[in-house]
Amino acid sequence: MKIDGTPYRSIWVDETDGWSVRIIDQTRLPWTVDLVRLTTMEEMAHAIKAMLVRGAPLIGASAAYGVALAMRADASDANLRQAIELLGETRPTAINLRWALARMRAVLQPLERNARADAAYAEARAICDEDVATNAAIGRHGLPLLAARAANGRRVNVLTHCNAGWIATVDWGTALAPIYMAHDAGLDVHVWVEETRPRNQGASLTAWELGKHGVPHTVIADNAGGHMMQRGDVDLVIVGTDRVTRAGDVANKIGTYLKALAARDNGVPFWVALPSSTIDWTIRDGLTDIPIEERPASEVTTMTGRALDGSIATVRIVPTASPAANPAFDVTPARLVSGLITERGLCDANEAALTEMFTDIA
Ligand code: MRU
Repeated sequence: MKIDGTPYRSIWVDETDGWSVRIIDQTRLPWTVDLVRLTTMEEMAHAIKAMLVRGAPLIGASAAYGVALAMRADASDANLRQAIELLGETRPTAINLRWALARMRAVLQPLERNARADAAYAEARAICDEDVATNAAIGRHGLPLLAARAANGRRVNVLTHCNAGWIATVDWGTALAPIYMAHDAGLDVHVWVEETRPRNQGASLTAWELGKHGVPHTVIADNAGGHMMQRGDVDLVIVGTDRVTRAGDVANKIGTYLKALAARDNGVPFWVALPSSTIDWTIRDGLTDIPIEERPASEVTTMTGRALDGSIATVRIVPTASPAANPAFDVTPARLVSGLITERGLCDANEAALTEMFTDIA
């Protein structure tokens, strides 16, 4: 997608040196587009953990490049093992991290040491290219859901939570891919963007990228989503996900479950967009089997934004003596999900439908 007319991916190999990795520092958005250069596996691990890069597919692609940086420095068995272990510990919920690392291990382990660095860069690049194609396919499969509600030039109102747009992936996004395609096809699409406390990925990232692409949108407090649905102002909900079980349970950013409940109560379709790399075929019960990341309390007790004098400021919003808890994801049971938008097409959120659609990998 484009930033001020220039096409970008969210991660790429530096064109000048041909080996270091460039990312957009998402902790600085929407205020500054900082292109950070990463030169070591440790720097990449930090970038994932501190959420300079985030979003399940991008976490996977970043980890793959982290392995490539590690192999460039030392392609021994021990370093390959250590890199995969360290990168694998950065974030627990998004399964794409483990998926990408398993793929890198499978390619690199059988190789001689001197072949590993080149192969690692090639595989990381392939993961990125496939992600772009996959998300474009998700967009194409999701587009008819919006088109069906846009008859006679009517405006389609989509509600989304968190950021599952192009900067959460390598390009296009998952939940936002059908929205970009519908907008580009001339449909009148409007997006309700939930702010997504505590880190505000909706307010700071989704609003930013929709704005850069010219998609009409309105930021709302997380608490407003149910009210918008009751008023008939939401045609459908589309969210992304960090892990889907083989039975169709969906882990996504904290607060997603509440929107699924409100959607069910109001008869609003609740769709989840995902690449198949987000399906964890080893588990069924999302509530018991998906690890939920617990993030620092400071994300709840403080907020960061631009002060009126233009400086970036972090302010405390909770009494100093009050503790805070910060579970970063929740699980929406499959029964509340209207359907899944995958790169192979639309699919019911249950084991029979998923295993039939992905019979070769399930
Ligand atoms: O904690 P984050 O910002 O990495 O969480 C991101 C989400 O919850 C996204 O909705 C999910 O990863 C899907 S991204 C295409």
